Amino acid sequence: MATPHSQTLSLYLLSLSFVVIIPGLQAHIGEYDDYWRERELQAKRNLEKEYHPNPEEVTKHFNDHVARTLLGFGADNNNNITGRELRSMRKKSAISSCKATNPIDQCWRCNPNWEKDRKRLADCILGFGRNTTGGKNGPIYVVTDPSDDLLNPAQGTLRHAVTKDGPLWIIFSRSMIIKLKEELLMTSDKTIDARGANVHVAYGAGLTIQFMNNVIIHNLHIHHILPGNGGLIKDGENHIGLRTRSDGDGISIFGSTNIWLDHLSIYKCSDGIIDIIQGSTAITISNCHITDHNDVMLFGASDSYTPDEKMQVTVAFTRFGKNLVQRMPRIRFGFVHVVNNDYTYWNMYAIGGSCHPTIISQGNRFRAPRNIAAKEVLKREFTNPEVWKHWDWSSEGDVLLNGAIFIESGDPSASKKYGVEKMLQFKTGQMVPILVEFSGQLVCSPGKPC
Ligand SMILES: *[C@@H]1O[C@H](CO)[C@@H](O)[C@H](O)[C@H]1NC(C)=O
Ligand SMILES: *[C@@H]1O[C@H](CO)[C@@H](O)[C@H](O)[C@H]1NC(C)=O
Repeated sequence: MATPHSQTLSLYLLSLSFVVIIPGLQAHIGEYDDYWRERELQAKRNLEKEYHPNPEEVTKHFNDHVARTLLGFGADNNNNITGRELRSMRKKSAISSCKATNPIDQCWRCNPNWEKDRKRLADCILGFGRNTTGGKNGPIYVVTDPSDDLLNPAQGTLRHAVTKDGPLWIIFSRSMIIKLKEELLMTSDKTIDARGANVHVAYGAGLTIQFMNNVIIHNLHIHHILPGNGGLIKDGENHIGLRTRSDGDGISIFGSTNIWLDHLSIYKCSDGIIDIIQGSTAITISNCHITDHNDVMLFGASDSYTPDEKMQVTVAFTRFGKNLVQRMPRIRFGFVHVVNNDYTYWNMYAIGGSCHPTIISQGNRFRAPRNIAAKEVLKREFTNPEVWKHWDWSSEGDVLLNGAIFIESGDPSASKKYGVEKMLQFKTGQMVPILVEFSGQLVCSPGKPC
């Protein structure tokens, strides 16, 4: 009797004679069959649906939550924060039993029973990804086995979990290193929740979120990600697809919507750390810790791909740590709220872009490198000032250290639209050490606040 797997394979071989092979397409889809055509069509509908016509409503909502958290820490709306006050606030946050210091974390980390209420996490998202639910409406799936099989993944492996149909909340029975033989092709409505274990996706291929909707990835280490050779890879419960080479991105988001990446520690990937391209929107990246990398985040990969006008991303509470070079992020088209992040170092620049993106930078801390030629936070790529002076790139409440320079452009009142009045009077960038204190992967034990 044929196994479901060999049925799929023979179906695949049968259909191979009818499919169009699209060479060199960045989609890395080697066999563009009905399954992927349908996923692409759905993704195009999702882009229209999930694009928010009033981004200022989302940025204001975000800033409002941060302001309330900081007031809870004893900040005063009218006072400046001195170094001494800052230190005493940090102490306060460190000695209290709950160490959640920003509004996303405060939503769940103080609960000692977080393990019994894992899905609570899905109610904690702020920013453009806030409608993401991941696997909230599905059962729990426990990964017990770090092994990987591309065509017929065993029950209890990560690849088996992420290719199942329907919503699934994926957790881990123990700490493990998962070395992916080729890219992990996820399907819609999944949460990967590695709290309570120390899980590394490393020394192999990375995660691919392509033509799909609704995923949460939480509390993983992702590092030493290598390019893949492609070939046949299971990419759905009843489907195996043919892939071309993968680039070696940590997380590649391609034509996908409603994504939340939180508390990830990512470093040393061959290509990008996180790419968001080809019509993706409704995305929040928060509480991540990123180090040791050249091209960090690419949002929009093509000058001719104008659907990226609808790309909306929040980057928040993230620590851009040691040995980073550029693209934190680098943006084409689209609208990006870069808020309350700590930029501790860059080699070339921090934030850049082309093709008139909107960049709202609020309450970040930018520490320039020593190199006198690299003091500018921003880089406008391949564009002369006559053109870029019309791009809305604004700074509000940012703290510029070590000679960092932020040259704004566009409508000088633009930032007012994006919730300045919701920010506190003082420079919220000063609060960044508190807001990002627990960025990256967290060590959480059942029965204790995380
Ligand atoms: C407090 O804020 C005001 C206005 O922003 C500024 O002029 C002053 O130097 C600040 N004082 C301190 C102690 O930082
Ligand atoms: C989230 O869902 C609400 C209700 O459907 C919708 O109005 C909003 O545009 C969606 N997106 C964001 C980013 O809030």
